[in-house]
Amino acid sequence: AMTNRGEYPHFMLKEIHEQPDVVAHTLLGRIAGEKVDLSHELAWTPEETEKWKKIHFVACGTSHYATAAAARIMETLGNFEIRTEVASEYRYRNIPIDEETLAIFVSQSGETADTLHAARLAKNRGARCLVITNVRGSTIHREVGEAIITPAGPEIGVAATKTFTAQITALTLLGMYLAKLRGELSPASERRLISALMDIPGKLATILSKEREIEALARDFADARGFFFIGRGLAYPPALEGALKLKEISYLHAEAYPAGEMKHGPIALLDKELPVVALVPKNGLWEKTVSNIEESMARRSPIIAIATESDEEIRHYTSHIIFTPETEPELYPFVAVIPLQLFAYYIARQRGCDIDMPRNLAKSVTVE
Ligand code: G6P
Repeated sequence: AMTNRGEYPHFMLKEIHEQPDVVAHTLLGRIAGEKVDLSHELAWTPEETEKWKKIHFVACGTSHYATAAAARIMETLGNFEIRTEVASEYRYRNIPIDEETLAIFVSQSGETADTLHAARLAKNRGARCLVITNVRGSTIHREVGEAIITPAGPEIGVAATKTFTAQITALTLLGMYLAKLRGELSPASERRLISALMDIPGKLATILSKEREIEALARDFADARGFFFIGRGLAYPPALEGALKLKEISYLHAEAYPAGEMKHGPIALLDKELPVVALVPKNGLWEKTVSNIEESMARRSPIIAIATESDEEIRHYTSHIIFTPETEPELYPFVAVIPLQLFAYYIARQRGCDIDMPRNLAKSVTVE
């Protein structure tokens, strides 16, 4: 049955391993002949999409970090004016929401109180609303109506894993579809990204095959005082999610920063007991992030690098490296998040934590 751990000691580990299939299932029926097609789910016309000058992503927790990834992916696809807000802030600030707003609510459970209330608010203000949820018929789904359902299956571990990956898959398709309806996505980019998306399940499987390596790394670092995660651009949202996983299940302090912002305060905390997990994909920002690695090394912080397979140069900086497969640059969050989930899982296991039911946390927060 779906809610059986099977051979796995924890649901979280099982759910981490389901991710290649979850991506494949999320793509299924939404791609036809190397083209994205969401017309079965979204009754959108090109004229109406032109009207949406503003895009608001509203969510909580891991779903919020999925929207942070989605925003960065979408910014590479078209000329979008995007905000990503946590629901409990969106509700109570004075953010202009109107008929020119497309408001996208992302909630695994579809029951998070703040996200639900934020959706009601946006609806009242005349925004076009859409929900991305893993639960068909959930409260948010029923109230918002228009939806993309992620087919990740029930997620039992309190720490979200496979639903994050399903969300970023759906949101990438959504961004492509919107850019396409607006005439901003070239057929060549569409083909390139669709074929790259179809390669993602295989790449995730490659990362999962390095589980023992990641476990060994976690064993070496399980006594750290805490962790910093750094990344730039498309590497920043997975850094946020990696830090969140670690604090949720290992109770260690973990904080993610955009790498360039480290010197504006957080660097004061660095020393040999505070390792830095640096997400340093081989892209145009590589040198910039490496210079932040050097700054951290100068404060004697151990460095764990999440680097791209072909990147031999990274070995000059550290011997603690997890290599991720190359991808189209836009899709980096997909490959970056898996090793960080496994790292958090094995740190928590080393520390003897209750991984599937971490203290103080609920799977879905239905109170305000
Ligand atoms: C709770 C869960 C998190 C989740 C967040 C948002 O805090 O512990 O794992 O990311 O709620 O949940 P949602 O169901 O709205 O995505």
